[in-house]
Amino acid sequence: LSTVNQKPWILGISGASGQQYAVSLLRHLLFLLDDLVLVISEDAKKIIMDECAHKDLGSDKDGWIHFLVNDSYPGVYSLTQIGERYRGQTKKCRLTLVWNHEMFSSVASGSFRTSGMVVVPASLATLGKLAQGITDNVLLRASEVCLKENRSLILVPRETPLSLSALENLLQLKKAGAQILPAMPAFYHRPQVVEDIVEFISGKICNLMDLNHRALAAWEP
Ligand SMILES: Cc1cc2nc3c(=O)[nH]c(=O)nc-3n(C[C@H](O)[C@H](O)[C@H](O)COP(=O)(O)O)c2cc1C
Repeated sequence: LSTVNQKPWILGISGASGQQYAVSLLRHLLFLLDDLVLVISEDAKKIIMDECAHKDLGSDKDGWIHFLVNDSYPGVYSLTQIGERYRGQTKKCRLTLVWNHEMFSSVASGSFRTSGMVVVPASLATLGKLAQGITDNVLLRASEVCLKENRSLILVPRETPLSLSALENLLQLKKAGAQILPAMPAFYHRPQVVEDIVEFISGKICNLMDLNHRALAAWEP
């Protein structure tokens, strides 16, 4: 297993349902990357708490990082459970949290070189703004930087059914160079618990990131 990845990745979390997808991916990336910058929208913060925790962490960055990495979270395997699959590797990822209004942060600039960005879950609001080039928060600006610099941008929409405008925005973003990976779990890997269904999406994202991950195994005939 290789964990060499010199340039940081960015993980953007926007305000759609399915925050479990983000937390599950984050916990895998801690074992797979050297450097990760996390950007969380204000609505994502509210929805995480609404769906999962009912806490009030305010804007305490250390508290949020501890919550996302270590807390028991319905639908997501714990850090310990995930870590057991990466035996022999140390968790060495440097994790930096940026709030969405902190535009004077490194990820807002194209000169801050990254491997790319994942937005999971990606709300239709965020996708619509990005498709139109509206970049008035850090998550949108960092996504736009990936498009303009030809870096990897993996967008994970979570909505159903999809309106015409949503479909058109997704097509526009695909044409602009983004990868569209809808949060559409499969069942061919015979999931036993919700955690397995969630982790299927983490594995698909890690595949696009070209990481040698230990999320749920690929289908074998
Ligand atoms: C409980 C709740 C669940 C939501 N789920 C979704 C969703 O699954 N997909 C979506 O596109 N928008 C969803 N929304 C709407 C977005 O949160 C809203 O459009 C918001 O402006 C997105 O802002 P952001 O993209 O900056 O995070 C939800 C809103 C709430 C309150």
